[in-house]
Amino acid sequence: MSACLELEHVDVFRGETRILWDISLALEAGERVAILGSNGAGKSTLLAAVTGALPFAAGDIRFFGRSLRGLKAHEVSGLGIAIVPEGRRVYRDMTVIENLEMGAYPKPARGRLRQTLAEVLDLFPKLAERRDQRAGTLSGGEQQMLAIGRALMGRPRLLLVDELSLGLAPLITRSIYQSLAALDREITILLVEQSVEQALHFSGRAYVLENGRIERHGPAAELLQDPEIRRAYLGL
Ligand SMILES: Nc1ncnc2c1ncn2[C@@H]1O[C@H](COP(=O)(O)OP(=O)(O)O)[C@@H](O)[C@H]1O
Ligand SMILES: [Mg+2]
Repeated sequence: MSACLELEHVDVFRGETRILWDISLALEAGERVAILGSNGAGKSTLLAAVTGALPFAAGDIRFFGRSLRGLKAHEVSGLGIAIVPEGRRVYRDMTVIENLEMGAYPKPARGRLRQTLAEVLDLFPKLAERRDQRAGTLSGGEQQMLAIGRALMGRPRLLLVDELSLGLAPLITRSIYQSLAALDREITILLVEQSVEQALHFSGRAYVLENGRIERHGPAAELLQDPEIRRAYLGL
């Protein structure tokens, strides 16, 4: 059986500028993995290469063995990869329910919209309470729940989450991580975070990205104990 996601020697440019260098990583189906790194390390660029928002110049990215080279973003999402973008990007003038329905555009998801909607509202009861409210009136944490819910509406097999905790209080961040932890293991999760501690508690393994290169990787429990990681990312 092939891995859910594999990157092999991937280079990514933005214009003339090389942002990612020789990135190799792999996620088995059902794994929860974090990519850690400070602002500007290249985390969002890496996710953009996976979703087809940016091309990759060298190497290969494979999803269950199938190369994503040359695919457009809508083709990648059609295969079952969904992203929760940095800054959430909910449709502020649409209601909670309308936002969620927007996420059900991949063809196999459309026919199961009612069922998936019920599952998402069950996972995030706050969204059920606010179902007819406009998204712009929600708190930051609720908007993050909505952005995750919208991604789940596409019934992805791989969920990419960019900066889950950015701008959120620790308590609400923890509750969102708890909801993610309750998700079916059929959904593989790749998480990108500047805020390292909760991400490591959630993930089984992590990669550390610095200046566009993977500098470290290992089991989350090991990285949490690592003096260098603690100094650089945990402020200890
Ligand atoms: N649209 C863009 N055009 C050019 N350079 C960009 C763009 N977005 C990001 N960059 C640059 O790419 C590098 C990595 O950015 P990014 O992937 O957003 O990092 P992170 O998500 O880890 O904060 C940074 O040096 C940033 O300045
Ligand atoms: Mg980013």
